[in-house]
Amino acid sequence: MHFGSDNVVGASPKVIDAIVAANGGAMASYGDDDLAKGVEKQLGDIFETDVSVLLMATGTAANGLALACMTPAWGEIFCHHDAHVMTDECGGPEQWTGGAKITPLPGVGGKLTPDVLKAALEAPRRGIHSVKPASLSLTNLTECGTAYTPDETKALTAIAKHHGLGVHLDGARFTNALVGAKATPAELTWKSGVDVLCLGATKNGALAAEAIIFFDKALAETAHYRRMRGGHLLSKGRLLSSQFKGWLADDHWLTLARTANAAAARLAAGIRQQNAMRLAWPVNGNELFIVMPESTEQKLLAQGFKFYRWRHEAVADGEKPTGDEVLCRFVCSWQTTDAMVDQFLAAASKASA
Ligand SMILES: Cc1ncc(COP(=O)(O)O)c(C=O)c1O
Repeated sequence: MHFGSDNVVGASPKVIDAIVAANGGAMASYGDDDLAKGVEKQLGDIFETDVSVLLMATGTAANGLALACMTPAWGEIFCHHDAHVMTDECGGPEQWTGGAKITPLPGVGGKLTPDVLKAALEAPRRGIHSVKPASLSLTNLTECGTAYTPDETKALTAIAKHHGLGVHLDGARFTNALVGAKATPAELTWKSGVDVLCLGATKNGALAAEAIIFFDKALAETAHYRRMRGGHLLSKGRLLSSQFKGWLADDHWLTLARTANAAAARLAAGIRQQNAMRLAWPVNGNELFIVMPESTEQKLLAQGFKFYRWRHEAVADGEKPTGDEVLCRFVCSWQTTDAMVDQFLAAASKASA
């Protein structure tokens, strides 16, 4: 049973059906197909504003390209020190921007706070000897499974805007944050000061499809050249646009995320009943971080349950693993069932008895 990530499962049949439906006949190539235009229009309707959309095959390329549109080579990108762009993209943003510097900032539970961002932006600089602050990169759902509210986002973007920064939102799990929030897609993004969203579909039921959504359309001006030059413009663009068509139709994207979040909530409720385990952070989406004894972790892994040991720099003091405890990440997907969750909980309770 795999709780390793939400990308260990395949694509939703509705997405596959949409790819198959788009397979027949001739269509304009290089992203000019009518399906792509339809997706851009639909995303504009969902986000309640006019947007420029570029479809991509990976979240890493989407993040790098989006950041490059607001960050010169001599620019500085601020993000949480656990951000995917900081820790997991092999220097992709640095490559896409031509060498910009990423400055990681601390924050409990994957979230930045206004005081930390403000201090970083007001720290003394040495003119042209220092890199120039250019962008703020946030992640929602965060890498710790928590979610920024619109007010929390606004507080950060107001500081960023005051200092002339562009704001990028890594939304690899944006839909999980959205369905868990009492807010609209617009409120979680441009109405809270986000300029560009990388909306991930892959982890939430697509095969490989991400959308860079420019709310500030001026920022998209160079994006098409960057995507072509970076080798990320698919000639048969229908592969990406059809996935989005199937994913968005009839709110399927929301249904998939609700299923994953419900499984995570069930798992979290079960963990709260266990004496030997606890949650490191609130569960706002489909990711959980569980503190457990190493001996329990080893027994569960030996039984074939799959999940990852996690780094824990961002754990608040009260929740930090102590003694022989470890921090483990569990991710539920749109395919995780109640039966799977219950089977894991039964095994966890036996393993820690
Ligand atoms: C928060 C976040 N952003 C971006 C990505 C990158 O996505 P991809 O693996 O498609 O490049 C991931 C993937 O794990 C992620 O978790």
